[in-house]
Amino acid sequence: VNPVESSPPDCTVVNEAHDIYYTEQYWNDLPKVLEYLCERYTGDSSRWWVVDFLDRYCSEPFERGLFLNCGNGWVEREFVDRRMVRHAVAFDYSQQLLEEAEKQRGDRAITYFQADCNRLELEPNQFDLIVNVAALHHVQYLDRLCRMLCHAIRDDGVLVNCDYIGPSRNQYSWRHWLRIRRANRVLPPSLRRPRLRRPHLATMLVTDPTEAIHSSLILDTVARYFDIVERHDAGGGIAYELLSRNPPLARASPQHRDPHIERVLALDLEATRAGKVPPLFSYFIARPRKRVLKDEARLAYWQRAEAESERVAERRRGVYSRPQYLRLLFQLGLGRIQYLWHRAKRRLAAILGRTP
Ligand SMILES: C[S@@+](CC[C@H](N)C(=O)[O-])C[C@H]1O[C@@H](n2cnc3c(N)ncnc32)[C@H](O)[C@@H]1O
Repeated sequence: VNPVESSPPDCTVVNEAHDIYYTEQYWNDLPKVLEYLCERYTGDSSRWWVVDFLDRYCSEPFERGLFLNCGNGWVEREFVDRRMVRHAVAFDYSQQLLEEAEKQRGDRAITYFQADCNRLELEPNQFDLIVNVAALHHVQYLDRLCRMLCHAIRDDGVLVNCDYIGPSRNQYSWRHWLRIRRANRVLPPSLRRPRLRRPHLATMLVTDPTEAIHSSLILDTVARYFDIVERHDAGGGIAYELLSRNPPLARASPQHRDPHIERVLALDLEATRAGKVPPLFSYFIARPRKRVLKDEARLAYWQRAEAESERVAERRRGVYSRPQYLRLLFQLGLGRIQYLWHRAKRRLAAILGRTP
């Protein structure tokens, strides 16, 4: 059960494509949203969480930091440039993203390696800092990885996180989705997201099966191996879907769009505070609880539970819960009916000699 001895999972679902990241417009590209996130994370609308972490935890730079699923490498570059860490070690599954990160590394003390976070093996007590930025929500074997991180971090080390913690695979409940749709009416039609649809599970499983795979389990799983010493949630339950992937809004002038964004953000804050929607994003800091690594009974239990949940998901085409499985079957059935309908229309048009 020791994390080093435990064998890595046989198969994991990993996306080989790299061009699905850093291409879409997200809500935090909008300056008003950035202010909102800063306010929620640090209590100051002009103070980003990285600066907050720098001021309060990095009086001396950390010696050796591990950066999970580093993508194009902006996080470790920023930590090194701000002298928050002396030497950064970072990995990602995508070779192309690693090449991009390596290209931009310059002469910074950063070491890159290619790895699958689900199969990662680390030596004990190597790091005094571990950084998770938008990484854990892509992890399939979350318990295994958190256990490995607890093993690899020094007793006095720090795990800092800024991640999506909302419903797994963005499958908002219907009640939640209706609230989002209602809030959408606050925006003038010209600034509404062109196709506001509840995230389509079947499509998500094809385009990126790792996306938010176990995001709703992140806090509980981290808390098995780490003490969460502080947690600052940003909302997002209402505003994230309305303000992301919204080209008309991104193109509009700040004078035109900002008052509308402010109204959506006010609704977001109100619904999050009232507990009507869950928080989607969180900045939280944790310290390792090493003694749990000696509790063999618990480790064995969590390991079995994870293996069992993966076995079930394998039988259910990669989804974990029964409601999600039923939704998937419905979507696949509907997709087949739509396909047959379009094919029939094409055939009929061909027989009648018309273009459909
Ligand atoms: C949302 S991006 C975040 C990247 C980076 N941390 C950032 O904040 O820009 C998620 C990253 O997880 C990586 N990833 C997905 N599955 C992975 C896996 N099994 N092992 C390692 N990296 C993985 C992707 O290649 C991608 O770079």
